[in-house]
Amino acid sequence: METFLKVQNLVKEYKNGFRAVDDVSFEVGAGEIFGLLGPNGAGKTTIIRAISTILSFTNGKIEVLGKDNLRYAEEVRSNIGVLTTDIGAYERFTGKENLQYFGELYGLSSSDLDKRIKELTELLDMGGFIDKKAAKYSTGMKQRLAIARSVIHDPKVIIFDEPTSGLDVLSSQTVRDFMSHARESGRAVIFSTHQMYDAEKLCDRVIIIHKGKEIAYDSVENLKTQTGERDLEDVFLKLVKGEGV
Ligand SMILES: Nc1ncnc2c1ncn2[C@@H]1O[C@H](COP(=O)(O)OP(=O)(O)OP(=O)(O)O)[C@@H](O)[C@H]1O
Ligand SMILES: [Mg+2]
Repeated sequence: METFLKVQNLVKEYKNGFRAVDDVSFEVGAGEIFGLLGPNGAGKTTIIRAISTILSFTNGKIEVLGKDNLRYAEEVRSNIGVLTTDIGAYERFTGKENLQYFGELYGLSSSDLDKRIKELTELLDMGGFIDKKAAKYSTGMKQRLAIARSVIHDPKVIIFDEPTSGLDVLSSQTVRDFMSHARESGRAVIFSTHQMYDAEKLCDRVIIIHKGKEIAYDSVENLKTQTGERDLEDVFLKLVKGEGV
């Protein structure tokens, strides 16, 4: 399995001296869905922002497709697609116009962009609303559009921060199917969540972060065996309360 993302000894200390990420390391390979798990405030979004090159970090090293994310920030950005909870849409535009706009920013040709928009409309089940103004969208529609926008350039590394939070079971299923499809097409998917049901269904391996530190890093199966728990939620509770394996 080819390594697409390498995070080594990452440390992030905010200006106020608070260490939000404290020596975290993990690797994610092609064709894998990797869970970045942890309770509120664990440091998940901070790690994602550091990988995304939008947040400087105090120590450590991050590589995307073998390229250092500080030295090759622009190339790294073209190889990652990041969904965060604060991605908005231009409400006066339709979904399709939004995607066209962001696709053009990535420099996609209009024929490639048309193809990609069709593909994403199908994968994310957006046919019923893609030509309506984004202002009229429900939470689930907005989220699917945000996902489409984050991967419009078909990146090799996909990082989703809480992609299913606030979604009903149907929209969640669509998002999970999208991640599975990305895995099947050889992408590396980093899935950050505290919804253990989704994580257990999807993730091959996970890292569990608590108070900025790694407390587990293994396959879901191995973690269940090691802790003697039957599902990931119980594993998670046991580890977070005991702060480690
Ligand atoms: N700009 C900042 N300055 C100081 N501390 C910060 C800053 N941003 C985040 N933090 C702190 O860093 C810690 C980690 O935050 P982060 O948002 O990475 O957690 P998270 O795991 O994504 O949590 P959640 O599940 O709630 O989204 C929190 O304690 C947060 O208060
Ligand atoms: Mg977060």
